[in-house]
Amino acid sequence: MTADRSALSVLGAARPDTAYSCRQGFCGTCRVGVLSGGDSVRHHGSSTARRTRDAMLVCVSRAEAGARLVLDV
Ligand code: FES
Repeated sequence: MTADRSALSVLGAARPDTAYSCRQGFCGTCRVGVLSGGDSVRHHGSSTARRTRDAMLVCVSRAEAGARLVLDV
């Protein structure tokens, strides 16, 4: 995962069946578990209320530069 792309963009390239809908952090469809690296995730927009250290909305989240993020997909 790179810091200049959303996690959904990276996942979608590797796994075209990645589920999503609104792409704005509202619906929760894209929520995935975070196995490690949760402290290095940057979240944007309305996802703040739904994010936890162990899960993220990939449409509005990305890893910080140089960080390693492992997702449970
Ligand atoms: S696609 Fe709706 S919250 Fe991510």
